[in-house]
Formats: sequence, C-alpha cells, structure tokens
Amino acid sequence: MKTMLITGASSGIGEATARRAVEAGYAVALAARSKEKLDGLVKDLGPDRAMAVQCDVTDYASQQAMVKAVLDRFGTLDVVFANAGVGAKGSGTAGGDPDEWRTMVMTNVLGVMFTVKATHEAVIAAKGHVLITSSGAGRKIIPGSVYGATKWAMSGYGQNLREEMREKGVKVTLIEPGMVDTPFFDERKPNALVADDIARAVVYAITQPANVLAGEIWVEPLNR
Ligand SMILES: NC(=O)c1ccc[n+]([C@@H]2O[C@H](COP(=O)([O-])OP(=O)(O)OC[C@H]3O[C@@H](n4cnc5c(N)ncnc54)[C@H](OP(=O)(O)O)[C@@H]3O)[C@@H](O)[C@H]2O)c1
Repeated sequence: MKTMLITGASSGIGEATARRAVEAGYAVALAARSKEKLDGLVKDLGPDRAMAVQCDVTDYASQQAMVKAVLDRFGTLDVVFANAGVGAKGSGTAGGDPDEWRTMVMTNVLGVMFTVKATHEAVIAAKGHVLITSSGAGRKIIPGSVYGATKWAMSGYGQNLREEMREKGVKVTLIEPGMVDTPFFDERKPNALVADDIARAVVYAITQPANVLAGEIWVEPLNR
C-alpha cells in the first residue's frame, strides 16, 4: 500500500485530502499540533489505514521525530503533502504585525522547507512525490499582502525543488488554491471552493501515470 504524509491534516484542505487519499488506496500519516482532532480523524478513517503524529512544523526536531514515527509504522513514504499554513489578521505593511509575520514565515515558508528536508531521503528512496500548498495568492498580486509573499516564496521554492528532484525520479507539484471555505477564515465563505475541491486536485496529481508530472494545479472558484 502506498503511504502519504499530510501536514496540516487536522482541518480544512489537509483533512479533506486525507479522506480522499484513503479512498484512493493510500495509508495516511496525519500531522498537526491538535492531537485530539487528528485522533478523531484516525478513528473515522480506520486505524489500519491512518496514523496521527503531533508535530509543530516550525520546529525541525519535531518534523524529524514525525518522519521517524511514520517510517517506523509504514516503512516507506511515497507521497508528502506539505500543506500546513496560517494567515494573518493584520493587513499590508502598515497594518501588519511583525509577530504575525514571524509566525507566517516560520510556518508557511520554513515549515514547508523543513518538511521537505526531513522527508527527502525517504521520498527519494521511494521515487515518490512532494506536493506543496502554495496559493492563488502566490501567483497573483494582492496589494500589500505579506501572506501572499509567503506563498510567492513557495511558488518559487516548489519550482526550484521540482528541478532538483526531477533527476532523482521524484515529482513535485504545487497546489494553488483560490479561496476555500475552511477554518483558515474566522467567517464562512459561501462563494468559495470547498476543501474537497482541492483534495480532488491532490488525488489527481498523485494518481497520474509514472511519466506524467502535474507540476502546478491552480484551482479557483468560477464566481469570485
Ligand atoms: N483556505 C484558503 O482560502 C486557502 C487558499 C489558498 C491556500 N491555502 C493554504 O492551504 C493550507 C491549508 O489551509 P486550510 O485552508 O485548510 O486552513 P485550516 O483549516 O486552518 O488548516 C490549517 C492546518 O495547518 C495546521 N497548522 C498550522 N500551524 C501549524 C504548525 N505550526 N504546525 C503544524 N501544523 C500547523 C493546522 O493544524 P493545527 O492548528 O492543529 O496545528 C491545520 O491543520 C495552508 O497552507 C493555507 O495557507 C488556503
């Protein structure tokens, strides 16, 4: 059975992807800080197919421990979905809060790089697949958005990583959602996508034939 590690699996896009990945035949390792939510999801998905690992992606040692736990349980790691991320309440540079920026950069930028670094040996050994959640905000200009800048960083990193990994037989896919109605926002977003729309895009990418690389998937609601 192929195995998949998902960071940010306790809610939203990560949780929906875990459900679709199990449906597609994967065993999943679910990582986030909220252990209770992860345990609930493992119960739902079946402990034979899912495991929970508490991890703070901003802490490299925590990520190394996560990878060890996954390899101890599953033996291999075929797919890594570096998806954990946070937004900010402050807006632009004038209205932004440097402490929020630090958390965003640590989570959205370094956290993803740490995930890739901590998993790369296992993924290369499996000739596997790395997916990174960037954003539509990492593809278009949003005036003053520091969050968007963290996602532009991921769009750049993901493209560079794709070329580094290509020669090792590892696929790299950037997932670029437009607005998705998830707990990322404090209020509901009725015209947005739903998390399952992104989960299906992830499953599309990881179920392609060996020679097919879906490099970037930008998914937007038709009516914004
Ligand atoms: N919603 C959108 O409109 C949208 C659009 C484009 C891109 N995105 C991106 O999609 C990804 C998932 O977001 P979402 O919309 O599904 O929001 P969400 O429901 O708030 O999910 C965020 C996930 O990240 C985890 N997380 C946050 N900080 C973490 C940390 N330090 N260590 C480990 N896990 C951490 C959270 O779990 P814990 O709090 O339990 O740790 C949660 O599982 C993010 O990268 C986000 O930037 C979202």
